[in-house]
Amino acid sequence: MSNYLFPFSEEHEMIIQTARDFAQEKIAPVAAEFDESGEFPHETIKKMGDMGFMGIEVPEEYGGAGLDTLSYVLALEEICKVDAAHGVVMSVNNSLYAYGFLHFGTEEQKQKYLRPVASGKAIGAYSLTEPMSGSDAGAMRSRAVRDGDFYLLNGRKSWVTSAPVADNIVVFMMTDPGKGAKGISAFIIETGKPGFTLGKKEPKLGIRASATSEILFEDYRCPVENRLGEEGEGFKIAMTVLDAGRIGIAAQALGIAEAAYEASLGYAREREAFGQKIGQFQGISFKLADMKTRLEASRLLTYNAAIAKERSKTSGDRFTLEASMAKLFASETAMFCAHAAVQIHGGMGYSKELPVERYFRDAKITEIYEGTSEIQRLVISRMELGLK
Ligand code: CAA
Repeated sequence: MSNYLFPFSEEHEMIIQTARDFAQEKIAPVAAEFDESGEFPHETIKKMGDMGFMGIEVPEEYGGAGLDTLSYVLALEEICKVDAAHGVVMSVNNSLYAYGFLHFGTEEQKQKYLRPVASGKAIGAYSLTEPMSGSDAGAMRSRAVRDGDFYLLNGRKSWVTSAPVADNIVVFMMTDPGKGAKGISAFIIETGKPGFTLGKKEPKLGIRASATSEILFEDYRCPVENRLGEEGEGFKIAMTVLDAGRIGIAAQALGIAEAAYEASLGYAREREAFGQKIGQFQGISFKLADMKTRLEASRLLTYNAAIAKERSKTSGDRFTLEASMAKLFASETAMFCAHAAVQIHGGMGYSKELPVERYFRDAKITEIYEGTSEIQRLVISRMELGLK
């Protein structure tokens, strides 16, 4: 390890080692196979739950490991260094699902819907996007109409990570379309109930072992007590939770960038061309220098965002800026490093015999989901200009 500005505690060192050993022993042997088949790796995900990786920051009373945000980021980075598909399931569970309950859930909701997911016995998902509203999340069309002690949910949501395997999903729908973003509410739904069906499975370029699909609601009856937060508070909940989620994606991107860099470094030391190791050519060595510099900068931004989120637990301050900067820079670095790694490996980088082409395919999504790079630039610039 280099000389980081962040002095890790013994607990942090331990979580790094634990996650690294787990990823090497349990995930590395199966990552390529699940990527190829596109099947969901139930067994290893279950083991991750048993290890406490599915609710790292959730207090023990709600089934989690009760650790800090940096521990979460460090563990996720190690998992994603081996396989970003396992990583996204972990990230969605921990941040997009669990964080919403910690902030906005009632005691009953936490006991009933957070505890099983944080302890790894169930899987959670988060559903904001619709076919016609991605970046413009406030333009959603799905409707929830109050009907006595229930809401009737109708609509189609898309790109829901973990939906085909999830037990519960936090879903956002319009309760008052006349109010725009202020007319959105959040609901906790059970996937086994009538009125909920899975739509088409998304055929993806990368993170293929994670399960992603559309979800459809047809008169799904959601009890009022399963509304998360107040009516009309949904957009704020969605954005607050995405701030946490974006730190997870930054950690995922950091893991992919490191994997791509380390593979490239090893190859540059070994592979020979024109009578010398290819690392001795400036065309290769300068690429390595840029990869290393960008990935260490991503690390600092990501750990900084984790610390800002940790501080927010006592100060209540938002960490939107730190999260967006980390996600923007780390995801573009993951793509930069994966692209360079394929180039450095030449034909072998394009071959499925090595994981390098998988890093390349997996890296791309980090620039898209949980807010594209363009949305991160919008969030950062608006905050800096004082426009929001
Ligand atoms: N925290 C708390 N509140 C926030 C907030 C935040 N980070 N961001 C915005 N808000 C609040 C604002 O303060 C505002 O409230 P007031 O009116 O009371 O001031 C309200 O929300 C509306 O905010 P904006 O006017 O800024 O809303 P906007 O329509 O201009 O949109 C946006 C802002 C940043 C573009 C937002 O729509 C956005 O982030 N879009 C991207 C959505 C996204 O990331 N989607 C990914 C979905 S998840 C996924 O990828 C799938 C998966 O399973 C992994």
